Amino acid sequence: MNLAARDAGLSLLRQHALIAGEPIAANGAGVAVDNPADGALLGHVPDLGAAETKRAVAAAVDAFTDWSRGDPHERAAFLRAWAALIDENTEALGALCALENGKPFEEAKGEIAYANGFIKWFAGEAERLIGETQDSPLGHLILTYREAVGPCALITPWNFPAAMLTRKLGPAFAAGCTAVVKPASQTPFTAIALAELAYRAGLPAGALSIVTGEAAVIGKALCDSPDIRKLSFTGSTGVGRKLAEQCAPTLKRVSMELGGAAPLVVFADADLDLAVAETIKGKFRNSGQTCVCPNRVYVERPVAETFAEKLAAQVARLPVGDAFQPGVKVGPLIDDKALDKVERHVAAIQADGGRILTGGARHALGGRFFQPTVTLGGDDRLFREEETFGPMVPVFPFDTEAEALEKADASEFGLASYLFTRDLDRAMRFSRRIEAGMCGVNTGLISTPVAPFGGVKQSGYGREGSIHGIDEYVNVKTVTLALRSA
Ligand code: SIN
Repeated sequence: MNLAARDAGLSLLRQHALIAGEPIAANGAGVAVDNPADGALLGHVPDLGAAETKRAVAAAVDAFTDWSRGDPHERAAFLRAWAALIDENTEALGALCALENGKPFEEAKGEIAYANGFIKWFAGEAERLIGETQDSPLGHLILTYREAVGPCALITPWNFPAAMLTRKLGPAFAAGCTAVVKPASQTPFTAIALAELAYRAGLPAGALSIVTGEAAVIGKALCDSPDIRKLSFTGSTGVGRKLAEQCAPTLKRVSMELGGAAPLVVFADADLDLAVAETIKGKFRNSGQTCVCPNRVYVERPVAETFAEKLAAQVARLPVGDAFQPGVKVGPLIDDKALDKVERHVAAIQADGGRILTGGARHALGGRFFQPTVTLGGDDRLFREEETFGPMVPVFPFDTEAEALEKADASEFGLASYLFTRDLDRAMRFSRRIEAGMCGVNTGLISTPVAPFGGVKQSGYGREGSIHGIDEYVNVKTVTLALRSA
């Protein structure tokens, strides 16, 4: 067990919220945060409500004028200073993330690097807030400016406590927005540690608050506030829909990164070893608790058995355990409900005549650990509509390309999708036709700060990361100039 890393993580753990940069200590019992690996208590954060949320919003409003009217190059310099502090603290931040989320320490450090990639990328975007000039048919000159939308509410999930925060804060700060963040109650400590580093890097007071407590209460206060001009949410489709409804009366800008039930399609002409390796990379990231991880794998019938057996053989060897156990690749699930869901999905496959090739049950380690699982056959319908969000890969045979596309699209979700083939025509055709915001061709990893991330259908709207991410945080202002000398 890497106890030194674990202790480094604990050294960054702060049991307070942050309003306008000021620590707010727990009032009463607070919200308990545990380590999913053993259920041990890590600490508490305050159980704040509407009154504290309003204070955070007021601070974001106060800070907005100076921050948004300031020099974007200074905002870029701040983002780079913040990124440098994160680089210096990668080990400790990774450990803190692993402690509260349960993901393997090495993977958690990878998440911190991924998270920091957004800050570095958007530092550059702050320097490229470029407007346009255009001649008007009315004889005027038209100028456009990209201006910060205003104070933002950012609601982040527990599965990527660092990366989902910086994917929103990077562009928000680059554009000149201020922010009130509600981190997931299961994983608030990484967000608080990152916010502390942001203030150490020179963020002005009020530009960022981290409000902890009951999601429904804080979320409603943020949505109801006319001073919050934009809400960005990553989480379930059900909660996203509710937040969008609550934002409607104040006509806020909204972006939603919601659920997925990603199809992964393997054609018979694919490099099967590559397809197996990439399926494992995509599926077992964060122990299967990722909204882009393959939820249902369709394999062309002549190679379905071979693919599933190769996959099962490798999945059976994935080391499961505590985040700080060297070599561990699969951690615990976030809570008992998550465990029940995987169990229900395995049972559904069995009830529909599918076979378990490996795993299929709770892990001998007990607690929230589940065996990495591969099944073959059964009915795919449940997996079109429900994310398993756990370490289970159901494989289903198909016969034709048309059938694969029909099955892939037969879902209300459309976030990520994947396809494996050596046929370039088919790769182009299939990836263009599939109803999804993202499609990985011959790869199981599609997430990087430089690629647009987002979905279609019930997976939400808006794009994060890439050259598009900043558009979610700016309004285009038009100035029409009548020039007498023109
Ligand atoms: C998510 O699961 O919400 C995001 C995953 C990613 O950024 O790859």
